[in-house]
Amino acid sequence: MLAETQKHAESARKQLQFASFDLKTLTPHMGAEIHGLDLSKPLDEHQSRDLDAAFRDWMVLVFRDQELNREQHKAFGRRFGKLHSHPMHKVGLRGDDPEILPVVTTADSPYTAGDGWHTDVTCDAIPPLGSILYLSEMPESGGGDTLFANMALAYELLSPPIQQFLGGLNAVHDGAKPYIGAYKSEPPEGGYPTSEHPVITRHPESGARVLYVNSGFTTHLCGLASHESSSLLSMLFDHIANTPRIHCRVRWEPKTVTLWDNRCTQHHAIWDYYPHSRRGERVSVCGEEPPRI
Ligand code: SIN
Repeated sequence: MLAETQKHAESARKQLQFASFDLKTLTPHMGAEIHGLDLSKPLDEHQSRDLDAAFRDWMVLVFRDQELNREQHKAFGRRFGKLHSHPMHKVGLRGDDPEILPVVTTADSPYTAGDGWHTDVTCDAIPPLGSILYLSEMPESGGGDTLFANMALAYELLSPPIQQFLGGLNAVHDGAKPYIGAYKSEPPEGGYPTSEHPVITRHPESGARVLYVNSGFTTHLCGLASHESSSLLSMLFDHIANTPRIHCRVRWEPKTVTLWDNRCTQHHAIWDYYPHSRRGERVSVCGEEPPRI
């Protein structure tokens, strides 16, 4: 009999060959490098169809040697939808363009944004569908990789009784947790957003069930006693952080673009390069309310 961990033959269900570009997988379940697309130019119909299929199957797409100015970066984002504006932009902490999020860490930085497992901006009622990070400067020491976790696989690896129990729950996602708790920013008037989302959601395109809590934003499970909620969330956060087979690792080079599906992945920026610097910019795309299963 196959061991439990061998049962998820993920690569068997995913497309590996595309007419418009070459694809090289990072793991059998998530993450792929795409070679042969120039993101500074509009994509033709075939490239567009292939890219959408690769994005749906592989969730995290890495493009090397891209020469993008801000307008081209934003234009690539707009092919997926309206561009998102980060809540910290309102308090003047995230650059001058509401559609561009600077991602910069130097020796003087008090923190690195995203240095912990999270899904982007789940405090919003409508969190981003995806993000596109373009790094221009990498630390000369090496390092500065980003880890990703496949949250559909995280769901599949939970036992059926836990899947069923979580399927009926909602959770609160609070912007104050990272933006005040971790980053010590002043809140905007009215505070940072707080939203309730299903704990198990469904990917709107693939239909996959997805575990949708993250240690960055999720503060409690609705309807449970506080000790029950914190124990269950700890169990889930441990599952996400300590199950290497749901992870992939993106090693950046200058001029690398990584596009991730924020509806079914989490990520963790690794700050292992102090006192060196890492610089780039992120564009995120508005999504829809995370659907119930
Ligand atoms: C983030 O968008 O959370 C930052 C990711 C990174 O810097 O690798």
